[in-house]
Amino acid sequence: MPNAKLRFLAPLIAAVLVASSLLVYAQRLDVPYVPTPQQVVDRMLEMANVGKDDIVFDLGSGDGRIAITAVKNRGAKQAFGVDINPVRIKEATENAKIAGVTDKVTFLEQDLFKTDFSKATVLTMYLLTDVNLRLRPVILETLKPGTRVVSHAFNLGDWEPDYSDKPDGRDVYMWIVPAKVEGRWDITGPNQKFSISLKQEYSTISGTTTLDGKSAKLNGAMLRGENIQFSVEGLPGKFTGKVDGEKITGEGGWSGVRTARNI
Ligand SMILES: C[S@@+](CC[C@H](N)C(=O)[O-])C[C@H]1O[C@@H](n2cnc3c(N)ncnc32)[C@H](O)[C@@H]1O
Repeated sequence: MPNAKLRFLAPLIAAVLVASSLLVYAQRLDVPYVPTPQQVVDRMLEMANVGKDDIVFDLGSGDGRIAITAVKNRGAKQAFGVDINPVRIKEATENAKIAGVTDKVTFLEQDLFKTDFSKATVLTMYLLTDVNLRLRPVILETLKPGTRVVSHAFNLGDWEPDYSDKPDGRDVYMWIVPAKVEGRWDITGPNQKFSISLKQEYSTISGTTTLDGKSAKLNGAMLRGENIQFSVEGLPGKFTGKVDGEKITGEGGWSGVRTARNI
């Protein structure tokens, strides 16, 4: 009799165990698993111009197709996929083996919100808007200026993308992480000294100039990654340079030093 009961109960217990473990994973997932069509993956990596110097991170990597394609088809130096679901990690690792890229592709079973992806030069995501918005400050704070961020389907709120496309009818957005330039800068050129005060919202910058003790207009101010450009009313030509922390190295012999972060 107890045996008969056990025979009856065993499948039920097994089903409950499987269902509850699936539920545990479902509860931990911030985003359900839906793969990006290969054509869209190809376009995402093309938009980011992934190449031999790149370290690609795919947050929520699913079956690993983005990380694997980055190495196999675009020649990325290294790629990492991060997924919280062990089933996906196993699948992705097997796919990397089949593709022959295990030396350059690593899949990490962990929560993307607890992952340090600061060494990425390209970040890819197919997540959800609220997840993207939680990641936005981390992206802006920890990624190097010039890092490309590509997202399938979901944007980053009021941070306008630098480029967008619609391969296969899907929205793909790309942002370039901007250097932090807000503040007051003393500029020294071959023939002049002046200061600029810059306001910044993501990659959009604007500001004022003080030249010979008088204010002058700052025109055409542009920031793309670490590259900055502007012109100053009353001075010839454009100032083009690269921002590196508290310094700017200008083309043609000018340079800048930040003297205050807040204006
Ligand atoms: C929409 S799929 C995208 C898969 C892949 N990136 C692609 O584009 O084909 C989202 C993935 O995120 C994973 N995921 C959900 N929440 C996560 C979390 N907190 N940390 C890491 N991965 C997560 C899911 O397991 C799923 O594989």
